[in-house]
This record gives sequence, C-alpha cells and structure tokens, in this order.
Amino acid sequence: APTDEDLRALIDDHVGLEGPLLPILHAVQKAFGHIPGAAIPLIADALNITRAELHGVISFYHDFREAPAGRHVVKICRAEACQAMGGDVLAEETLKKLGLDWHGTTVNGAVTVEPVYCLGLCACGPAAMVDDRVVGRVDGARMDALLKEAGA
Ligand code: FES
Repeated sequence: APTDEDLRALIDDHVGLEGPLLPILHAVQKAFGHIPGAAIPLIADALNITRAELHGVISFYHDFREAPAGRHVVKICRAEACQAMGGDVLAEETLKKLGLDWHGTTVNGAVTVEPVYCLGLCACGPAAMVDDRVVGRVDGARMDALLKEAGA
C-alpha cells in the first residue's frame, strides 16, 4: 500500500502546475492502479478543496477508480450508437451474469467491468474493450467467450 510519503511526493511533483488536480489524480492512479482512500485528504488539503469536491471530480471522470481493478478490465460502450445496436441489453446481461454493478470486480479478482463512452467502433456496435483490445459486434455469446478468456 502507498505510504503518505509516497503520496505526498506525487502531489508535490504536480502541485505547482496550473490546474494541478487532474495531473495529480493521473499520477496517483498510474503509480498505484487506483486512487487510494489515503490520498483523498492529502490531495484535498494540498489543493485547498473539500473531500466532497474531490470525490465529485473522481467520479465524474470515468478513468479514475477508487478501488484496485481486477487483472482484466472489460469496458462496455454506453454511447448512443452502441446503445442503439443492443449495447444496453449487452451491458445489463453482462453485469447480471457476473453479479456486478459498474466498476465492480468479480470475487476471483479476474475482471472489472466499466462503462466507456465511444470506442470509435460505432459502425460495428455494440463495442467493448478488453484491456487494450477493442472488440466490435459483441453479442452475448461473444461476451461470454471474452469473459471466459479473461478468467471471470
Ligand atoms: Fe460505441 Fe462509438 S458509440 S463505439
């Protein structure tokens, strides 16, 4: 787990920037894989913002997570074109099958499911992404195969 010193060092590296909040959050997530709870009061104090404001920013940007991700991250496109192609149903069924909400991780730690807003594959929706790999025309069977491959 990151120590307060580790976190302070990362904050100090970026606090002098104009608009330091997002660079700090990116640096912390890059270093630790998520924004640990211990970072919240330190960042809030350094930038003189409230913890509530900070939580608001973290949840607004879908790239940040407050808990460590599973070994694989499956993102399902929630933007309009994919929704129109059945992305809604795909998302709902996938979460239900895994017993998860968005941003949840399977109990075996294999897979975290996250929403994403357009992967540039709108013509081949519904689209998904497994780690760095973008996949188009994902139906239930294809999603099952992807999840199995990821060890969910
Ligand atoms: Fe899903 Fe563009 S809307 S990839």
